[in-house]
Amino acid sequence: MKRLLFLAFTVILTVLFGVAVWQDSMREWTGYQRKFFHSLTRAERQGLTGGIKQVILTDLRRVDRCTTCHVAIDKPQLALAEEPFTAHPGTLLESHPPERFGCTVCHGGQGLATDTKAAHGEVKHWEQPLLRGPLVQSSCYKCHGDLRPIESRAPLLSQGITLYKQLGCAGCHSVHGFGQSVSVDLSEMGEKPWQLLDLTFVTGEENLSQWVEQHFKEPRRVTPGFRAHELPPGEEEIFPTFMPQYGLNDEQARALTVYMLSLKDEHLPASYVRPPGPPDPEPTYASPIEAGRAVFQKFGCAGCHGLDGIGGRRNWNAWLGDEVPSLIPVKQYYDRETLKEFIRHGRQPVPRSNPQRPNPPLYMPAWKDRIPDKQMDQLVEYVLSLGEPLPASQPSASQPPAAAPAATTQ
Ligand code: HEC
Ligand code: HEC
Ligand code: HEC
Ligand code: HEC
Ligand code: HEC
Repeated sequence: MKRLLFLAFTVILTVLFGVAVWQDSMREWTGYQRKFFHSLTRAERQGLTGGIKQVILTDLRRVDRCTTCHVAIDKPQLALAEEPFTAHPGTLLESHPPERFGCTVCHGGQGLATDTKAAHGEVKHWEQPLLRGPLVQSSCYKCHGDLRPIESRAPLLSQGITLYKQLGCAGCHSVHGFGQSVSVDLSEMGEKPWQLLDLTFVTGEENLSQWVEQHFKEPRRVTPGFRAHELPPGEEEIFPTFMPQYGLNDEQARALTVYMLSLKDEHLPASYVRPPGPPDPEPTYASPIEAGRAVFQKFGCAGCHGLDGIGGRRNWNAWLGDEVPSLIPVKQYYDRETLKEFIRHGRQPVPRSNPQRPNPPLYMPAWKDRIPDKQMDQLVEYVLSLGEPLPASQPSASQPPAAAPAATTQ
């Protein structure tokens, strides 16, 4: 009897061992390595070894195993055309050698994992899914806070930062302490757990970049709010989002998304961070009005009042036609001093057109002493000049920037 039991155990153990070996050989990565080695000549195979490949990046607190499958990423002479056997495009691995930088510091994903879905972080619990294609540019900012030397290598990121300034996002949002607090602080937008976002109206893949990009193109589709008639009696009406619908094209929405994803509270060791170069010289302006236009842009007045103050954004239930007012008529009823006072004090809440309905969501923020005196003087000159042609000496500067979408009254 004992013998029989012993025999049975031995058989079971042998079978289990066999299954383990078989499973191991069926792991995804072994399949890729086998396929890759088959593609090589005997000479090319010289010096290459199989098995799990990893780089331990103590400073970055990461262990990356991506090259277990991406076997030829730094070997262009051996690379094949298909993934995961391609060589890295461009020359970035020369300035960022894998043994010092790994892959996940730029691409995200899950360094330790060895099957494709998990490694690419395209699984529910992982918050940093693989950054594919141009979305990788969102990682450059954490080490290259000064983008000027690498601008041509991160064109979408640069475009996103420029658009953020031109469109006056800072009138409603703040990033690292600069900007108004009318809406969400965006300083850590790039690490917002996407599970916290409402994905009901997002189409395609469920992740942060999809939500952000679709929200830029059609904010009122992604965050629609609810109309009064959909609510039980007595419940307060929620307006659709007052995030402006800018009419962005695909590239502009993608560029802003790359910038948003780059906003993280991540502290890397100093040896990985590129120190900023000397600041650009202060721009010179032909007139106080020109200077004032730059102040208007810097503080994000356009976010609510539109480019060049020509027309307001939608503002549900505001007494002035459901909109933030245009600033062109302002010169008719404000002088310099009263205008300054108004900008410093703001107006909150804005009077309602229908007193039965809630307060309009947008208000004129109180700028207090955030705008330094000299810039306030220039700003006021500019606002009082609106609707008049700018001084003839600077015709080109009076055009809206070419990259900015047409001003909408939405
Ligand atoms: C188990 C094997 C495996 C591992 C490990 C792996 N990958 Fe991949 N990778 C693949 C395969 C297969 C593809 C092609 C299919 C796809 O795009 O999902 C690919 C594609 C990619 C692409 C190209 C995407 C595109 O859209 O063209 C990138 C970038 C990438 N991987 C980065 C990484 C990074 C970074 C890691 C480490 C965190 C990693 N991979 C780990 C197998 C792997
Ligand atoms: C310095 C940042 C950086 C590092 C480090 C880096 N990459 Fe990339 N990677 C990029 C950029 C930028 C692109 C080009 C994306 C584009 O515009 O198409 C890219 C492209 C790729 C592609 C081509 C497919 C695609 O998405 O365009 C693959 C595959 C890839 N990287 C894998 C890796 C692997 C594996 C490692 C680690 C050995 C790695 N990368 C390290 C920045 C980096
Ligand atoms: C983890 C930090 C880190 C990330 C992320 C990173 N870089 Fe770098 N990068 C560096 C460091 C450090 C150097 C200098 C390398 C050396 O020691 O020579 C460098 C060098 C470069 C260079 C060579 C020119 C120069 O300024 O020395 C280029 C170009 C560059 N990076 C572009 C990029 C781009 C584009 C991205 C995003 C896709 C990126 N880097 C992401 C840290 C980083
Ligand atoms: C008139 C005020 C206003 C302006 C200007 C504005 N936003 Fe918003 N934004 C909002 C409001 C309100 C929300 C929250 C409701 C929602 O999600 O739609 C929001 C939400 C967001 C979110 C999602 C934040 C989160 O954590 O849910 C991002 C990202 C964002 N805005 C970026 C931008 C960018 C970039 C610009 C400039 C192109 C901009 N916003 C201009 C009002 C504004
Ligand atoms: C968050 C949105 C928002 C931002 C940003 C904003 N405003 Fe306003 N502003 C408003 C609203 C709403 C009103 C209308 C108040 C009312 O109805 O009385 C207004 C009114 C004004 C008025 C008075 C218009 C009139 O016809 O009485 C001036 C002038 C003005 N804003 C200037 C500015 C300047 C300059 C900036 C930038 C420093 C700025 N605003 C930024 C929302 C904004």
